[in-house]
Amino acid sequence: MNILVIGSGGREHALAWQCAKDENVQHIYVAPGNAGSALEPKCQNVILEATNNDASEHSAVIEFCQNNAIDMVIVGPEAPLVAGIVDSCREAGIQAWGPTAYCAQLEGSKTFAKEFMAQNSIPTAAYQGFTDAAAAKAYIDEQGAPIVIKADGLAAGKGVIVAETIEQAHEAIDDMLADNKFGDAGSRVVIEQFLQGEEASFICMIDGNNILPMATSQDHKRAFEGDTGPNTGGMGAYSPAPVVTQDVHDKVMAQVIQPVVDAMNAAGHPYTGFLYAGLMIDEAGDPYVIEFNCRFGDPETQPILMRLQSSMVDLVAQGLAGQLPSDAKWDTRPALGIVVASKGYPESSSKGDVIAGLPELDANNNNPVKAFHAGTAFSHDSNTDAAHSDNTGNTKEVITNGGRVLCVTALADSILDAQQAALAVTAAISFDGAHYRRDIGHHAIAREQS
Ligand code: AMP
Ligand code: GLY
Repeated sequence: MNILVIGSGGREHALAWQCAKDENVQHIYVAPGNAGSALEPKCQNVILEATNNDASEHSAVIEFCQNNAIDMVIVGPEAPLVAGIVDSCREAGIQAWGPTAYCAQLEGSKTFAKEFMAQNSIPTAAYQGFTDAAAAKAYIDEQGAPIVIKADGLAAGKGVIVAETIEQAHEAIDDMLADNKFGDAGSRVVIEQFLQGEEASFICMIDGNNILPMATSQDHKRAFEGDTGPNTGGMGAYSPAPVVTQDVHDKVMAQVIQPVVDAMNAAGHPYTGFLYAGLMIDEAGDPYVIEFNCRFGDPETQPILMRLQSSMVDLVAQGLAGQLPSDAKWDTRPALGIVVASKGYPESSSKGDVIAGLPELDANNNNPVKAFHAGTAFSHDSNTDAAHSDNTGNTKEVITNGGRVLCVTALADSILDAQQAALAVTAAISFDGAHYRRDIGHHAIAREQS
């Protein structure tokens, strides 16, 4: 079996690594991948023109699949999904795992998502949409602070401002609507009621009808320790999330996930692929949707897949056949991942800094700590050439190539042990400007200790 994984982040390295464990898999291509996916057994990076936003360029993916006997495409990031890569593959008879462009609007447009939730009685924060700055500010004045301002379109997890004061909220409106800080993504904003509680990530596989919940997880979106600083794509994550008790789990399935499946079917657009509900769980254990993503989370994928004992390839094949099972096999131990970011992240990022101290690749694949790569590349070579010439060694220099560089993920008997194991490996890794949080998992560790 041959697989194409689309994307270049830590999520895609983890997906490729998990798929490579399956004995029925011969070859995994990752487009465009990173240095980590290039070094993984059975894996090879490829550069395809079309793995980003432009729907008209999907022909490169289709051609590659046809020429390389690809049995299954797994799409990691939201941009190609929103641009309809799954629709294009299906039209060409290629098996691609992900939602169609219609369904991906749940992530691609906050306005679509909020209207969808309102129509289907899915619990979420009260909101209003605006394109006019003066009207937005008047609404903020009326609502008071804290209040949340979101760019309507895709902004890599950074288009959300949780404003503590009215002044900050006005400033966010000026940035998005007047100064165009988020480009087209921010030409329309959603202003939302501030929700209180504890966050959790609830990720499922859906085949149009059947739902397979993944292990629960929680990520840390703020850049700095103590959950302070600007929002990022995620600075670390762990699984399971103790806040998701069985009772909360049941409520999420009944009040959030099942209604999405039913409503998409009623609209004539069955939901297929991963669905990620970012949730706020309040004190009463009631879930509210903060956001939908039409994909696996990054960095949630890394700890979740460390725990997955079923084959992701089998699960995706079952999903593509409309025969998803209702559960998968999980390691009962928790896993925790720490993101190591480059200088300036999230405002900017640094490329080309040499990374020292990466752990050796583990040929037997049973090391309880794994450094998944995200924004990495090879110093002297394209990732593709490196994969052709060297699938075994650690001799090549790995350099930074983006904001989130690595996600060091550990499996252990407790969340605290997993945090300590991940920190020990992280501390040995160095590059100019590297920064990471030492408190990933603090909510869960506090629960463990109480
Ligand atoms: P989003 O990209 O919509 O997931 O938002 C990023 C982060 O902002 C979330 O993970 C929350 O930490 C925070 N956030 C977003 N919306 C709200 C809200 N309505 N109330 C409180 N916090 C929020
Ligand atoms: N970790 C949050 C996300 O994947 O959007």
